[in-house]
Amino acid sequence: KQQLKGKDFLKLIDYTQEEINYLLELADELKTLQKEGKSTQPLKGKTLGMIFEKSSTRTRVSFETGIFQLGGQGIFLSTQDIQMGRGETIADTAQVLSGYLDGIMIRTFAQETVEALAAYASIPVINGLTDLYHPCQVLADLQTIKEIKGKLAGVKVVYIGDGNNMAHSLMIGAAKMGMDLTIVSPKNYQPLQEVTEQAQQISSEHGAKITVTDNPQTACEDADVIYTDVWASMGQEQEQAERELAFKGYQVNEALLSLAKPDVTFMHCLPAHRGEEVSAAVIDGKHSVVFQQAENRLHAQKALMVALMGDED
Ligand code: CP
Ligand code: NVA
Repeated sequence: KQQLKGKDFLKLIDYTQEEINYLLELADELKTLQKEGKSTQPLKGKTLGMIFEKSSTRTRVSFETGIFQLGGQGIFLSTQDIQMGRGETIADTAQVLSGYLDGIMIRTFAQETVEALAAYASIPVINGLTDLYHPCQVLADLQTIKEIKGKLAGVKVVYIGDGNNMAHSLMIGAAKMGMDLTIVSPKNYQPLQEVTEQAQQISSEHGAKITVTDNPQTACEDADVIYTDVWASMGQEQEQAERELAFKGYQVNEALLSLAKPDVTFMHCLPAHRGEEVSAAVIDGKHSVVFQQAENRLHAQKALMVALMGDED
C-alpha cells in the first residue's frame, strides 16, 4: 500500500512505479466491485470541484459519476461561469475553493496554471488535461493495456501522430512502467525535446525504451499496441488544414495495422476523427479497444480519488 493521501496528481513524473502500480491495482479492485454490483463509499460527504476551461465528455462524466459512486459529489465549474474566467487569480481561486472542497480537478491550457493552483490549494489537485500532459488518460490506458496484454513491462507500444499532451504523458508513463514506446510524428510535430529527454532518462532506470522517429512503417513492425490521437488538439482548431497536410501518411489504417503483431491492439483516447488520424475500419474493427479504454477512465479516476481524497490510512 502506498501513502498518497493529500497528494496532487499533476503529472506522472511525480509518481513512482510502485505508486502507479498501486493506483492500477485499486482501479482493478473498484472495477470488479462495480461489476459485481457491490458499492463502496469511502468518499461519503466529500466534494470534488471540476474546473473546465476546455470541452470534455469523458473526463467530466467519468469524474462526476465516479465521485458520486464513491459516496461524494462533483461540482462542474466552467470557467465561462466562475470568476476565474473574469480574471480572479489562480491563487485566490485555489484558496477559496480549498475552504469548501476536498479536491479539485482542472482542465486548462497551460501546465503552469495547474501547478499554480496546486501550489496555492491546501487540497489535492488533479490534472484533467493541459496542453502539455494528460496523466488521467494514461492511467486508464495502462489499466487497459494490462487487462489485455496481462503485463506492462516489455509491451511494445507505437504512438502515431502529433507529439502532443497524449504523446508526452504516454512517454512518461511508458518509461516509468518499463515499456517499449515509439513515438512516430512528422518532423515539425515531434514531442518536446525536454519531455523526450526526461522520458529517456526515466526509461534507463526502469528498463524501458523510448524512441522518437518519423517512419510509421518501420515502427509498427512487431507492435503490441498502436495508439493515436487527433491531429489538431483543443486550441489548435485554426491549424486544422495545415496539420491535415503535415500528417498525410500518418493515418492508422489497415495497411499499417497489418505490419504489427496479429493480435495488435488499437487505442485512441477519443474523441476521434474517422478518415483523419484513424480509418473507420480500424477504430470500428476487431483490434480496437477504445470503449474499454474510455470506460476505464471511470475506474482509474475512482482509484485516484480514493487514494488522494480518502480518509482511510
Ligand atoms: N479522452 C478525453 O479526455 O476525453 P474528453 O475530452 O471527452 O474528456
Ligand atoms: N490531444 C487532445 C486530447 C483530447 C482528450 C486534445 O488536447 O485536444
